[in-house]
Amino acid sequence: MPANQKLVLITGVSRGLGRAMVEEFIRLGHTGLGCGRSQKEISSLEKQFGAPHDFAVVDVSADKPVAAWAKRILKSHGAPDLLLNNAGLINRNARLWEIGAQEFSDVVDVNLKGTANVIRHFVPGMVKGKRGVIVNFSSGWGRSTAAEVAPYCATKWAIEGLTQALALELPPGMAAVPLNPGIINTDMLRSCFGGSASSYPTPQEWAKIAVPFLLKLGASDNGRPLTVPIRGAND
Ligand SMILES: NC(=O)c1ccc[n+]([C@@H]2O[C@H](COP(=O)([O-])OP(=O)(O)OC[C@H]3O[C@@H](n4cnc5c(N)ncnc54)[C@H](OP(=O)(O)O)[C@@H]3O)[C@@H](O)[C@H]2O)c1
Repeated sequence: MPANQKLVLITGVSRGLGRAMVEEFIRLGHTGLGCGRSQKEISSLEKQFGAPHDFAVVDVSADKPVAAWAKRILKSHGAPDLLLNNAGLINRNARLWEIGAQEFSDVVDVNLKGTANVIRHFVPGMVKGKRGVIVNFSSGWGRSTAAEVAPYCATKWAIEGLTQALALELPPGMAAVPLNPGIINTDMLRSCFGGSASSYPTPQEWAKIAVPFLLKLGASDNGRPLTVPIRGAND
């Protein structure tokens, strides 16, 4: 692979930001690897983009399938240059005491434990080569709070802490950053913002700014909480 082409691994590529990012990375000549739970959407990505791109049905909240996926990808492609922990879930809008134990667990299992599962199985390969950037998707709500999304806020604040600690553990040459992507009109935003979500950029508009921003990240960014420079991202 030419030196300026990157191997980019993204969780949650079936829709939303993950889908838009993988399409934009591939359009720019990079290799896209990704997972999601929807068989239909993973098959559609496989049809759209053949080898060397690679898509798999993997639920990041389950450690064993993540381990098997990582083993296969590390063998066939090597360690990623850019690892984007993007897969995420938000609770339905409700006060904390109205949210059942299962729904609370689901949000933690995907947003926090899912990110740790992917790090557990992909990062040793990156550390071996002493290169690569890990981006853990946080949120404006990983640095501020709002009513009715307490479980989601808790996981994104945790992602900020987990990523800062990981940054202290990586060898020189690597980086881990928590990333606030801004506010983008996806299924997730429609769930918490309702109709007003439509006044925000589409994932495709966002990816045109986010992907070049992500491609520029390097060792000097290690441990820096970053925000994609789109309109309203710091509101
Ligand atoms: N949109 C925003 O304004 C915004 C703002 C701040 C932060 N974020 C963060 O940005 C990331 C992407 O959000 P989005 O707006 O694109 O959300 P989205 O439209 O709801 O898409 C979420 C993606 O994650 C995948 N996913 C969910 N659970 C998964 C699991 N257990 N295993 C594997 N994949 C899973 C989904 O695919 P399947 O259902 O097929 O698994 C889907 O591809 C999230 O981490 C979110 O918290 C978004």
